[in-house]
Amino acid sequence: MLKTLSRRLSSSAAKPQQLAQRLISSFELPEQTGAPLSVAKLAIEKTTTPKEKLAPEKLVFGHTFTDHMLQVPWSASEGWLEPKIVPYQNLSLDPATCVFHYAFECFEGMKAYRDNHGKIRMFRPDKNMERMKKTAARICLPTFDSDELTKLIAKLVELDSEWIPSNRGYSLYLRPTMIGTQASLGVNPPSSALLYVIMSPVGPYYPTGFKAVRLEATDYAIRAWPGGVGDKKLGANYAPGILPQRMAASRGFQQNLWLFGEEGYVTEVGTMNAFFVFKNGDKKELVTAPIDGTILEGVTRDSILALARERFDPAEWDISERKFTMKEVADRAKAGTLLEAFGSGTAAVVSPIKEINWHGEAVNVPLQEGKESGVVAETMANWIAEIQYGEKEHPWSYVIE
Ligand code: COI
Repeated sequence: MLKTLSRRLSSSAAKPQQLAQRLISSFELPEQTGAPLSVAKLAIEKTTTPKEKLAPEKLVFGHTFTDHMLQVPWSASEGWLEPKIVPYQNLSLDPATCVFHYAFECFEGMKAYRDNHGKIRMFRPDKNMERMKKTAARICLPTFDSDELTKLIAKLVELDSEWIPSNRGYSLYLRPTMIGTQASLGVNPPSSALLYVIMSPVGPYYPTGFKAVRLEATDYAIRAWPGGVGDKKLGANYAPGILPQRMAASRGFQQNLWLFGEEGYVTEVGTMNAFFVFKNGDKKELVTAPIDGTILEGVTRDSILALARERFDPAEWDISERKFTMKEVADRAKAGTLLEAFGSGTAAVVSPIKEINWHGEAVNVPLQEGKESGVVAETMANWIAEIQYGEKEHPWSYVIE
């Protein structure tokens, strides 16, 4: 089927970028074979040596882990084996395991919150499950039933619920991960895999807290390209971003604003999606890059767009998913029609931007008087938090207990 499509596309008049994009979106989730993932088979082994918990203000993002983890092995011949919740522990893997050599690894980032009534809530887990399946399928790892994995994660969260900090701004970061575990150096689809979930109590993502950041517009290194895998949550997409981030940091900028192509299209910021607010005559425009295969399908991105479309007055606002360039941003800053910019992601939720350095030119992004954020970033942070912490009932909240 892929061959026919490829032939059909290459004989059409579409541009190479469009061809690649159409080809990539033609990947379908493969049929699941063997035993399905099933919460009914869950076995739980509780720890006998619970760890001491840190005071929330001492938490550093992703450094502390709860008492338990979920593990589900998979094999091509049998399908999903018995899921187990076990004490948090090291994995023991043969040095030839394919994850170490060919990067058969994908992950998700999601969060669980404790509300004022003591209930535990996850935020839009269905979105993470769908994205994880698409990512896993792209690197020949197995897919699974989304509801079953969500229920397994809910069991793990429930067991370690004492680890969820209750203060606003704090949560339990959940890290579903899947790795290929076949121990062989042949470059093949893994015949075995391990799905596991670990959890980390977290506070603000940046040590500086909710503070506007300075960015370096980066075009010498490219995060993602048409036909590539930049829209997938593969660990392999993250390591190559660290050196450019270090280089930006050495010049005093916290993150990279990733540009693409000769046009300098704005794509993402650090590990987050990027939003800008422009003024067009009497109207304002909230704009972010379109999902064209080079942009991660962020859950927070989707939530911001949905909330803006639902709650912003359409007589005053246009909500756009469109391509825009760094030149447009710089020109608008000069003309006074750049109103705001921020990043969005699960870890930081929103991260306001105050300056972008573009080839040595400082492009200043306005903030609210006396504040570290623009008004849209602040509004979105509050609206999303109200749902996450159950202050407003919303279908995006998945209540565990
Ligand atoms: C996020 O913003 O949610 C991320 O993807 C960051 C994560 C890799 C720590």
